[in-house]
Amino acid sequence: MNHIQSYILEHKNRFINELIELLKIPSISADSAYKNDVLKTADAIKISLENAGCDTVEICKTDGYPVVYGEKIIDKNLPTILVYGHYDVQPPDPINLWNSPPFEPVIKKTEKHPEGAIFARGACDDKGQMYMHVKAMEFMTSTNQLPCNVKFMIEGEEEVGSSNLATFVKNNQEKLKNDVILISDTGMIANDVPSITTGLRGLSYVEVEVTGPNRDLHSGLYGGAVANPINILTKMIASLHDENNHITIPGFYDNVEELSKEERAEMAKAPFSLESYKKALDIDSVYGETGYTTNERNSIRPTLDVNGIWGGYTGEGAKTVIASKTYAKISMRLVPNQDWENITKLFKNHFENIAPKGVKVKVTPHHGGQGYVTPIDSIGFKAASKAYQDTFGKKPIPQRSGGSIPIVALFEQELKSKTILMGFYLDSDAIHSPNEHFGVWNYLKGIETIPLFYKYFTELSK
Ligand code: BES
Ligand code: MN
Ligand code: MN
Repeated sequence: MNHIQSYILEHKNRFINELIELLKIPSISADSAYKNDVLKTADAIKISLENAGCDTVEICKTDGYPVVYGEKIIDKNLPTILVYGHYDVQPPDPINLWNSPPFEPVIKKTEKHPEGAIFARGACDDKGQMYMHVKAMEFMTSTNQLPCNVKFMIEGEEEVGSSNLATFVKNNQEKLKNDVILISDTGMIANDVPSITTGLRGLSYVEVEVTGPNRDLHSGLYGGAVANPINILTKMIASLHDENNHITIPGFYDNVEELSKEERAEMAKAPFSLESYKKALDIDSVYGETGYTTNERNSIRPTLDVNGIWGGYTGEGAKTVIASKTYAKISMRLVPNQDWENITKLFKNHFENIAPKGVKVKVTPHHGGQGYVTPIDSIGFKAASKAYQDTFGKKPIPQRSGGSIPIVALFEQELKSKTILMGFYLDSDAIHSPNEHFGVWNYLKGIETIPLFYKYFTELSK
């Protein structure tokens, strides 16, 4: 690819400003109050794909938010790359913890980003990273260097489980046919330690409800004489881990793939400082499953976490009350070979079984998806590796991530193609948290690296 650095230098300010405009639209898929903004974002993506040189771009209706699809087919005999990304974002709450409003992007320097970072919800996840692909496309088409065919599929429901995208993929196999899927929706180890994500965890997300007496009761008159749903729920939740922090649900670990000593030793080579990890989070110790390191606990091991719990009186002051109902939202992160639907069933059976007399328990499954691991000897991985070597001057490290992009396993199942996860943000960039930000250097580095993936993938496919 010729002149990519000079092209980026010349258009850098515009690239940043265009992303800032996109970040101003609050495309929160979880909250129906933002419906028009989500739809407006889809329109904006359509225009940006047209401007970047796609021949056809359409807004494809689904039962939920639309999928924006664009393509440029230059020669049927050349390989086709399918780029996936999402234009929806997480809700910004808690809003009072943001140093600047989440949908009024600002650029500020940070310790890790001395060249500045864009602070806004979606800056990394995934508007910033998705837009790198749009700008990489612009570079290739406007300089006549697009080496292969390209298809874009940008969805608006990733943060709420992609259930309509699954249907879209199943119904559009021919349209979406490709040789490799390319996604930037993950992170990397550090700006001087490039990495390629080779694994994602699966997910099962459930909500539980515990009901005791038919109404809220005076905690003096009834306390001690009836089951208190909050006492019971917290006890039940506590029992889901044993003293070694293993999950106690029968059958939970049945299909968990154990890594070999060699694979674990390979993983341990990735640079990691426990001290800086603790310091960054202001904790005096890490916590987790006995027998595994921090990096193993958050990538190759399955987990169970309460994401939210409520019930009873939480307002100002004190109210003496035993709540009639209490609730919790629980996520289980899964590893390859664990089937999320089976795990959801195991959880439901177990949770109903351990409920004591005196309460009723209801388990409602939300969404989920399978985990994913990609081989490191594929053409796609090799092409990505070469691209990083050119732009970072170093060979990237394969890294298994703890996050989930459930649609990736479905892509493999339905479209029979592998996904390459080229992510450019840092864990400290605070995705899903207040003050999410994306380094300007990382954004531009992504735009520089992506076209090289196209080049090497096309060359290696010959
Ligand atoms: N981009 C993230 C997933 C991610 C982040 C994977 C970092 C690997 C590294 C994605 O937008 C996300 O947040 N996914 C959800 C799952 C979804 C079903 C709501 C998640 O992981 O919680
Ligand atoms: Mn994402
Ligand atoms: Mn996300």
